[in-house]
Amino acid sequence: MSNALNESKTESSSESAGVTADVSTGTTTAGESDEQIREEWSNYHFDGPAKLSVEDLNVYYGTDHALKDVSMEIPEKSVTALIGPSGCGKSTFLRCLNRMNDRIKTARVEGSVELDETEIYDANANLVELRKRIGMVFQQPNPFPKSIRDNISYGPRKHGDIDTGLLARLLGRDDTEEESELVERSLKQAALWEEVSDRLDDNALGLSGGQQQRLCIARCLAVDPEVILMDEPASALDPIATSKIEDLVEELSKQYTVVIVTHNMQQAARISDQTAVFLTGGELVEYDDTDKIFENPESQRVEDYITGKFG
Ligand SMILES: Nc1ncnc2c1ncn2[C@@H]1O[C@H](COP(=O)(O)OP(=O)(O)OP(=O)(O)O)[C@@H](O)[C@H]1O
Ligand SMILES: [Mg+2]
Repeated sequence: MSNALNESKTESSSESAGVTADVSTGTTTAGESDEQIREEWSNYHFDGPAKLSVEDLNVYYGTDHALKDVSMEIPEKSVTALIGPSGCGKSTFLRCLNRMNDRIKTARVEGSVELDETEIYDANANLVELRKRIGMVFQQPNPFPKSIRDNISYGPRKHGDIDTGLLARLLGRDDTEEESELVERSLKQAALWEEVSDRLDDNALGLSGGQQQRLCIARCLAVDPEVILMDEPASALDPIATSKIEDLVEELSKQYTVVIVTHNMQQAARISDQTAVFLTGGELVEYDDTDKIFENPESQRVEDYITGKFG
């Protein structure tokens, strides 16, 4: 990965290790309060422009404040893991990135999220286009009760990219061949082609859970997204299916920007390039290279969480 830690940050972190702060707060490995250097720890630097840039994001459900002043930049073509205890706001954060929270009546979002430096919360933003560019895969595989082929071609048809209907044929436009190519390409990208190539017209609900999840990933890829959001995509799967999804995520990150929520810390350590740790109360506590987070986090609370002392 091309991401590089900002020099000044590394220096100031090691300097601060020598500071004798009020250790009674006990909030950091170096003795400072989280508040003192929170901005610094969550301010992750990498080379190149951010694919997604989040600034001062706050989310409320009614009067509940679920996410507090979250700012973070997400580099392109890499895997960013979001970890933290249940209820800390990981799914809420992920849903902010393609405005899925708009669908929750009680949710109120404040702050800014930019995709390639364009504000997605702009009143004129086209949500259909946004969700095409930023696709999402959920915890429970949710294929449509249709054939495997139709699951894949549904999105491109909806967006008008392929048309195989009667009218199209009468008008001399028949994209059947294009559809077949798209189905094959998407299923290959999702490492499912070999298992389903001879049963494309079977109902997708007849697939195993792991296969259904890869089908959902293929469905997401079929509309040619730039960012893929995954909310615990492997937590309902057995270890073999999980490892297939993990391999796939790593492969996809060569071409796409992947943001993945996981409860499984080994998984985050294995597959991600950078990791953001959210803790109870909807705070982003630390964000850095994955190796740094797991080997030598700055925040005591993060260390406690990672070593299983709480959470
Ligand atoms: N639709 C909703 N309506 C009201 N409150 C919600 C809603 N969704 C989430 N919340 C609340 O917002 C907070 C953050 O929830 P969120 O689902 O984002 O957490 P999470 O980190 O994804 O948790 P988990 O690991 O259990 O999935 C929680 O207190 C939760 O109860
Ligand atoms: Mg969640």
